[in-house]
Amino acid sequence: MIWRMLRREVRWVAVAVTALACMVGCSGTSTAQKQSAIVELCRPSPPSTVTVSGVGRLGSRHTPPNSIPPRDDGMIGVGACGKGGDVDDSGRDWSDAFVNASAAGMQAYEDCLVRPLFEPWASMLLEELEVLPGEALLDVATGPGTVARRAAMRVGTTGTVTACDLSAAMLAIASAKRALPGAAPIDYLQCPAAPLSVPTEAYDVVTCQQGLQFFPDRARAVAEMARVVRTGGRVWAAIWGAIETCPPFAALEAAIRAVMGDAAADRYRGGPWGLADGARVATLFENAGFRDVRVEQRRVPVTFEAGVEQLWRSLAASGIATDIDALDGAQRRALQAAVTDQLSPLVRNGQVESETVSNIAIAVK
Ligand SMILES: C[S@@+](CC[C@H](N)C(=O)[O-])C[C@H]1O[C@@H](n2cnc3c(N)ncnc32)[C@H](O)[C@@H]1O
Repeated sequence: MIWRMLRREVRWVAVAVTALACMVGCSGTSTAQKQSAIVELCRPSPPSTVTVSGVGRLGSRHTPPNSIPPRDDGMIGVGACGKGGDVDDSGRDWSDAFVNASAAGMQAYEDCLVRPLFEPWASMLLEELEVLPGEALLDVATGPGTVARRAAMRVGTTGTVTACDLSAAMLAIASAKRALPGAAPIDYLQCPAAPLSVPTEAYDVVTCQQGLQFFPDRARAVAEMARVVRTGGRVWAAIWGAIETCPPFAALEAAIRAVMGDAAADRYRGGPWGLADGARVATLFENAGFRDVRVEQRRVPVTFEAGVEQLWRSLAASGIATDIDALDGAQRRALQAAVTDQLSPLVRNGQVESETVSNIAIAVK
């Protein structure tokens, strides 16, 4: 407990120092300027659209070829304030929750969210990336292997898939899944997004579905993606848009705010929906030296077949799961009632029917 508090204090000091240094010494395009370059087209369906924002060059921050950097715990690094550094603690509660999660907590993620929510996005991404048989693919923050398993089918037995994540509970769920016929075997690795415990220039494709927003040093994580993908290889990342564009989760947030207060609600939204600015995402990839950086906003329908109960249970896999566990019986009933009430406009025939929006970053090294 004391260690955890100390760690948090050290992090805040690091964030403050980094922010101060950035204010003093960093120049470049502002987020507002970048935002104006981003054209976000959100149409109900089919999902599509494009935004092109800039071209970059591989920078000198890359690790020399064929070296594997020393492991650390993914904490904030001093390099974060270089050009366009993006250090942000808003995903830390969720990241910690994933890392310290019980098997039951991550099983709730698998049972409630993977099939209706994450799998459709994964299928779309692999289709668009045109992943080919024989390619080598790395999936960063793989969770229960949502993208990795689909990728393994696409690259086939002549390809390779490596899938990494910091959460042992997530990797246990992923690796317990049965092997798919005709698919590449998946090599699961427990490691942070920065540094990645994989060799330099080893992959044709790097994917990261709904992981980037949780990393404490996003710039360093994207620089790691640049290090490990081969020249000419491509990188794809998906990051949720604003929570208001993901109505089932905006409803959960409203219920949390009403019953548990602003601090809990802010921590709930701060994780998955804490990097909603497409311009900020584009800057991360440009500053890591990628070229042909595009950030596209997409909308995909979602149906939670078990309705309100499915979303209620999903809170066990959230960054505020321990706060919910600590509620007494009356508070818990109040929260459940508020969740039911807030979700009611989205319920049709017992199912919750809605949509979610993500920013999709696609870039080439
Ligand atoms: C919302 S889940 C997405 C999982 C998966 N990509 C999917 O589509 O189902 C976020 C994942 O990020 C992982 N994660 C969070 N912080 C991390 C970090 N610093 N390094 C590596 N993985 C991290 C979590 O353990 C979790 O599996």
